[in-house]
Amino acid sequence: MVNLTIDGRHIQAEEGSTLLSAARANGIEIPTLCHHEALMPTGSCRMCVVEVSKGGRTRIVTSCIYLAEEGLQVNTKSQRVQEVRKLVLQLLMARCPESEVVREVAKEMGVNPEPRFKTSKDKGKCILCRLCVKACESIVGVSAIGLSGRGQTKKVGGPFMEAPQACIGCGSCVYICPTGHIVMEDDGKGHREIWGKTFNMAQCRTCGRYFAPLEQLSFISKATKVPLESLMVCTSCR
Ligand code: SF4
Ligand code: FES
Repeated sequence: MVNLTIDGRHIQAEEGSTLLSAARANGIEIPTLCHHEALMPTGSCRMCVVEVSKGGRTRIVTSCIYLAEEGLQVNTKSQRVQEVRKLVLQLLMARCPESEVVREVAKEMGVNPEPRFKTSKDKGKCILCRLCVKACESIVGVSAIGLSGRGQTKKVGGPFMEAPQACIGCGSCVYICPTGHIVMEDDGKGHREIWGKTFNMAQCRTCGRYFAPLEQLSFISKATKVPLESLMVCTSCR
C-alpha cells in the first residue's frame, strides 16, 4: 500500500493503482469522459486532470493514468485544475459542438457556452477518445473500426472510411461511446443499420422479438463452439 493525501484527506491506495481509482474508492469524484472500467485507460480526454505536489514541485497530471505514489499530495479541485478542465471543455466544444454530453458537462462546470475557439462543423460528436476502437478490439475481438487521418482530419470509422467488413453489428461501440457519436438504427422489422452496413436480426424463438444480428450470433457460436441454434433465444427469455 502507498500513503498519500487527496484533497487534504489521508488515503491508502494499493501500489499500482491510479489516482482516479484511489480517489473514487474513497468517494472523491473526478470528472471523466474517456474512462471505462472494462478497458485500459489511455488518457485521451484530459477531463480527469488533477494537481500533484511532491518535493516542492507541483504539476498537472492525468489522474486516470497517473499512479498513486508514497507521500504525494493531490488536489482535485484547485483553481488551476478547474481552469485546465475548462480549457479542455472549450477545446472539446470547438471540436464537436453538436455533442450534448460535452455541452452538459461544460454547463455544469460553468464554462461560457460561447465558442472560444474556431468550431468544427463536420466532426459530429466524436471526441477521439478511442473507447469504441478499443472495445471492438479487446472486448468483442473483432477490430472492425479504427482511427485514421491526423490532427484536424482524424476520425473514427472502418478501413479506408468504408463500411467495415469485419463488423458483426453488435453495437458495443455505440453502447460505450461517451458522446453518442455512433448511430445505430433497428427498424423493429428485422434489420439493423450501423457503420453503413445492414444486418439481418435474429428472432427470439420464444417471444419472437428481434434481438441480435445473425452475424453476431454466428461469431459467438464459432468462438464458443455453442451451436447457433442454442443462441436463438433473447436474454430475457433465456
Ligand atoms: S466515436 Fe465515441 S467512442 Fe469512438 S472515439 Fe469517438 S467519442 Fe470515442
Ligand atoms: S478520463 Fe482521464 S484522460 Fe479521459
